[in-house]
Amino acid sequence: MPFSDPIADGPIIQEANMIALTNGVTVSGVLDMVREARRRGLKIPVLLMGYYNPVLRYGEEKLLHDCKEAGVHGFVLVDLPIEEAARFRKFCVSYGLSYIPLIAPSTSIPRMKALCSIADSFIYAASRMGVTGASQSLSANLPEFLAQIHKYAGNIPIALGFGISTREHFLSVQALTEGCIIGSQIISTIGAAQPGRAAECVEKYLSGITGRNLERDEHGAIVREVTVLEPSAAGTRPQAMPSEDARPDTTDVTPGHDPVTSTRFGEFGGQYVSESLMGCLPELDQAFEAARQDPAFWEEYRSYYPYMGRPSGLYFAAHLTEEIGGANIWIKREDLNHTGSHKINNALGQILLARRLGKKRIIAETGAGQHGVATATVCAKFGMECVVYMGAEDVRRQALNVFRMKLLGATVVPVTSGSRTLRDAVNEALRAWVRDAETTHYILGSVVGPYPFPTIVRTFQSIIGQETKEQMRNAIGKLPDAVVACVGGGSNASGMFYPFLDEPNVQMLGVEAGGDGLDTSRHSATLCGGSKGVLHGVYTYLLHDQYGQVSETHSVSAGMDYPAVGPELSSWKDSGRAQFIAATDAQALAGFRALAVYEGIIPALESSHAVYGAIELAKTMKKGEQNVVLNLSGRGDKDMNSVAEVLPRLGPEIGWDLRL
Ligand SMILES: Cc1ncc(COP(=O)(O)O)c(C=O)c1O
Repeated sequence: MPFSDPIADGPIIQEANMIALTNGVTVSGVLDMVREARRRGLKIPVLLMGYYNPVLRYGEEKLLHDCKEAGVHGFVLVDLPIEEAARFRKFCVSYGLSYIPLIAPSTSIPRMKALCSIADSFIYAASRMGVTGASQSLSANLPEFLAQIHKYAGNIPIALGFGISTREHFLSVQALTEGCIIGSQIISTIGAAQPGRAAECVEKYLSGITGRNLERDEHGAIVREVTVLEPSAAGTRPQAMPSEDARPDTTDVTPGHDPVTSTRFGEFGGQYVSESLMGCLPELDQAFEAARQDPAFWEEYRSYYPYMGRPSGLYFAAHLTEEIGGANIWIKREDLNHTGSHKINNALGQILLARRLGKKRIIAETGAGQHGVATATVCAKFGMECVVYMGAEDVRRQALNVFRMKLLGATVVPVTSGSRTLRDAVNEALRAWVRDAETTHYILGSVVGPYPFPTIVRTFQSIIGQETKEQMRNAIGKLPDAVVACVGGGSNASGMFYPFLDEPNVQMLGVEAGGDGLDTSRHSATLCGGSKGVLHGVYTYLLHDQYGQVSETHSVSAGMDYPAVGPELSSWKDSGRAQFIAATDAQALAGFRALAVYEGIIPALESSHAVYGAIELAKTMKKGEQNVVLNLSGRGDKDMNSVAEVLPRLGPEIGWDLRL
């Protein structure tokens, strides 16, 4: 079942997903293929493999019902680990279909026991960390790894996947496993076949792998199967333990129970990631919790305030207030931080965390380049290797920041898959992290992704709201009536909002990127125009189509061009604690212009959305009495080219005739 954002797959399967989607393949279409194959006499079991969001969108129970009827036997859902699969597995049980657990080299022993105990058909063992794809050689540790799984699996067979592509691979593991899973190499074989000859080519390839030849009559019907399997090295397969003895206590991983709640914000959040990441996320969570409770960690963090330019200033925007004629507008100057945005707050915090974890290498994704620059900066300061993934389209429109990152010593990897923007950069960074999680920390740049990232990033960004509270009390003796921030992934907004959560008299307004307008498909306003789903490991609001395929987004500002949003913001939207509106590209440009001409501050295009929102809100509030704080998340130097590019088109819409 194809998915637009296959985070656990390598280039071949990524491309196959794209081709399938371009050709209109949907879950219903896949079920029709199974029905047709059954009608033509297919007898062997069929499993569907894919990602969770299309399943969720189709309807879990409906899918199970329709699969049963079509002749499907089970599922491999790459990003649905058992912690998140309670409901899906319940349906599987009631329809008599199989949920196939995955085990990775990083899977801990207690977890392995638990996964083995829920297996009801076979276990999918991933031969290596990283993504799918053919490889030259197989890992040397496979015998121990597979023996370990057999020990807990009882009589349940194991199929080994990831990287198997040749007869040599097949022969080398035949004594160790009951089956092999080959994906990328079959897809490549199909891709290379002459039109109409794909099935024949795949059969030939598989005969070469297994040594099993099919003899057919003149109508193509199989008349004889000739197996020439070479004998396996005797005695290497471990003795399976009796299955009863292998049944572990599974209470820690909740099979059959409701979803784990500690990784969530209400119903949002969670960890929808491949099994390979289920080891390092808890490691990160524990390290973060230990750091959060350690005063020495915060002392160290604060010792870099002079470097970061903290505390950032808060000042009264007198001229803008006067021109607008409503509430007093105050500006929190995150644009004056070192590197020019709020992103440094998080990058600095996370690199200290990475050092605690003993990681030597940092990877990051970036959209506008601000998070990439902040990460490259702290890597330079702490002497760590830095690789930044950036969508090829963003590399083009944020060329200045690419140069800054390179200058700071980082490697910038342009991502050419998908829409070539931030979302694809996150996909690629997640893939890279799975490959090297042992040595590498992934500094995620916003409050998105699997838990604990949303909490980590919000915690480091909360300094914004904490300082604002204190600064407002010092300036006017009370808290503001409203705080306003732009929302891309949501990090500067949650940083500003979170400390005000328990202050019900303070309104919280988030401003999303409305692009060409919410009535068009060209926007990035996830909370205003999206619905619930799973992307990048988290259940949250999302822009996706009726089939659960993630939508292309658009915004004049690269940092807002993201189809999901932090799960905590989703929970604030649903609880009504925060309100969210969208500003179009033209309205953001009006905000950009207002701050430049009335306050002499050139804001980032991302922050310009918040400027527009704050102005509109201030107009509705009491002049001279009420107070609005606008979080100015970044400065606009990086955006000069983008503004010059869009001015001829958008300038006339807002009555701004500026020529170079
Ligand atoms: C200056 C600035 N503001 C805001 C954002 C949006 O991110 P977030 O919503 O996580 O604050 C970005 C992202 O690149 C940015 O560079």
